[in-house]
Amino acid sequence: MSDEKIDLVQWIDFPSLGDDRGSLVALEGNKTVPFDIKRVYYIFGTQPGVARGFHAHKALKQVAICIAGQCKMLLDNGAEKAEVWLDSPTKGLFIEEMVWREMHDFSANCVLLVLASEHYAEDDYIRSYDHFLKIISISD
Ligand code: TYD
Repeated sequence: MSDEKIDLVQWIDFPSLGDDRGSLVALEGNKTVPFDIKRVYYIFGTQPGVARGFHAHKALKQVAICIAGQCKMLLDNGAEKAEVWLDSPTKGLFIEEMVWREMHDFSANCVLLVLASEHYAEDDYIRSYDHFLKIISISD
């Protein structure tokens, strides 16, 4: 196995093409977003007190951007955990494969946009934290 250590928290700053009319951000696959974008989804209208996620992906890479409001993202690669606020439409969080993620503390106006490197596939999900830790410890 490679000894290469990938940072758990990887931010991408998207240039805002703002002028006196307001702001605009463009997202381009294999350019500002480090993969070919195959899927886009967004989470909004999250009810008070709801937390989401609670899974890792075997191969999927994602970039999450809070384009309105804010939410907290917990990332965990089995060795390290980090909690960050997603609160800017010009900041993307790049989440690589085999990272456990949870989203908490959604503001009522939160719109969380997610760009994904693959189409939806339930068999790419790891939904048990214990199973995730087992797989991670084997691949280390
Ligand atoms: P879920 O995985 O529970 O969302 P989260 O991880 O954000 O809490 O997804 C909710 C439902 O939507 C679930 O039935 C799967 C479905 N879904 C799709 O059909 N396509 C998708 O791209 C995503 C992300 C989810």
